[in-house]
Amino acid sequence: MRTSHRTAIGRDVVRGAVEDAVRAPSVHNTQPWRFSVRGPRISLRADPDRRLDVADPQGREMLISCGAALYNLRLSLRKRGYEPDVRLLPDADRPHLLADVEVQSGHEPVSSEVDREYAQIERRHSHRGGFRPDPVPTGLLAALRLTAEQEGARVVQAVDVHVKGALAALTDAAEHIQHRMPAYTSEIARWAPSPTTARKDGVQHVSYPRRTPKTEPHFPQRDFARGQGWGAEPKDDGTALAGIAVLLVTAEDTPAAWLRAGQALERMLLRAAQDDLSAAYHTQALEIPELRAFIRKHFCGDAYPQMILRIGMPAGEELTTVRRPVADVMIEEP
Ligand SMILES: Cc1cc2nc3c(=O)[nH]c(=O)nc-3n(C[C@H](O)[C@H](O)[C@H](O)COP(=O)(O)O)c2cc1C
Repeated sequence: MRTSHRTAIGRDVVRGAVEDAVRAPSVHNTQPWRFSVRGPRISLRADPDRRLDVADPQGREMLISCGAALYNLRLSLRKRGYEPDVRLLPDADRPHLLADVEVQSGHEPVSSEVDREYAQIERRHSHRGGFRPDPVPTGLLAALRLTAEQEGARVVQAVDVHVKGALAALTDAAEHIQHRMPAYTSEIARWAPSPTTARKDGVQHVSYPRRTPKTEPHFPQRDFARGQGWGAEPKDDGTALAGIAVLLVTAEDTPAAWLRAGQALERMLLRAAQDDLSAAYHTQALEIPELRAFIRKHFCGDAYPQMILRIGMPAGEELTTVRRPVADVMIEEP
C-alpha cells in the first residue's frame, strides 16, 4: 500500500515539473496545454486555440500531445520525491480540463528506473530522417510493448515487409491529399514559421533537414519548408534506413484513450532514448478518416491507431526545437 499524504508543494517543484512537462512532443509543436496550480493540485487543460482545426478537428492529436506532457509531469514529480495522484477528465462538464494531479509526498526512495527515464526528458527529440543500420538492442521492442501496456495502450509492430510498405504508401497518399487542400496547407503555414520568426512554438527551420534521404520503404516527411528551401543542412552519412515501424493503438477512441496514448507515447520515447534511439512520426494518414479506418481494419486488429512511428538510431545530428516559457503556460491560483 502507498504510504503518502497530501502535502504543501514548493513553487520551485511545481515550476520544475511544468518545465519538464512542456518538453513533451506535440503535434506541429503546438504546445496545446495550460497548467494551473492551486495548493497541492496541478490541473492540466487543453488550449483549444492551439488545436489544428483542419487536420485534427476532434482534438485527438491535441489530447495525445497533452497526454505526453502529463507523463512528463508525473515523472518529474516522482523524480522530485512526490507521488502524483492523477484523475483524468475529472469533470464531464469541462471537457478541456484534462487532468487534476494531486501532489502527495512520497515515502519511497526515487527508483533508478525513474532516474534513468527522467534523464531522457531533455535528450529526447523528434527525428526527421533516416536511421543507421545498427541493430536495435535485444529486448527493446518487448520493453516498448510493456511500457505502452502499462499506460493503457498497445504497440503493434509492422513486422511484415508488406505492411511496412503499405504504411509508407498510405503516408505518401495522405501527404499527396493534404498537399492539395488549401485549408490544410494554410494550417501547416501557420505552424511552420519562416526562419526570421521570434516565436517559441511551431516546427521551425532548425527542426527539420533541408533534404531527407530516401529510405526503403519511404515515409514522406511533412512539407514544413513549403518549397522555400528552409531547413537545417543534413549531416547524415547516406546509410539511412527506415527503421522499425510501429503503430501505437488503443482499444477505444475516446478523449481518455487519447490521453492514455499520449502518456504511453512519451513513456515509450523516453525508454527508447535510454538506448540512444529516436522516433520519427508520420501521422498524416491518421488525419484522413478513410485512411485511418483502413489502417485500423487491416493492420490494428480493430484497435484504434493513434500514432505511426519509425524507431531507430538517428543518422546524423539530432535537430533542435523550441518551447514557450513556462510563464506563458502556467498560472498560480491564490
Ligand atoms: C500527436 C503528434 C503527431 C505528430 N505528427 C508528426 C508528423 O506527422 N510529422 C512530424 O515530423 N512530426 C510529428 N510530430 C512531432 C512534433 O512535430 C514534435 O513533437 C514537435 O515539433 C516538438 O519537437 P520535439 O519532439 O523534437 O521536441 C507529432 C507529435 C505528436 C505528439
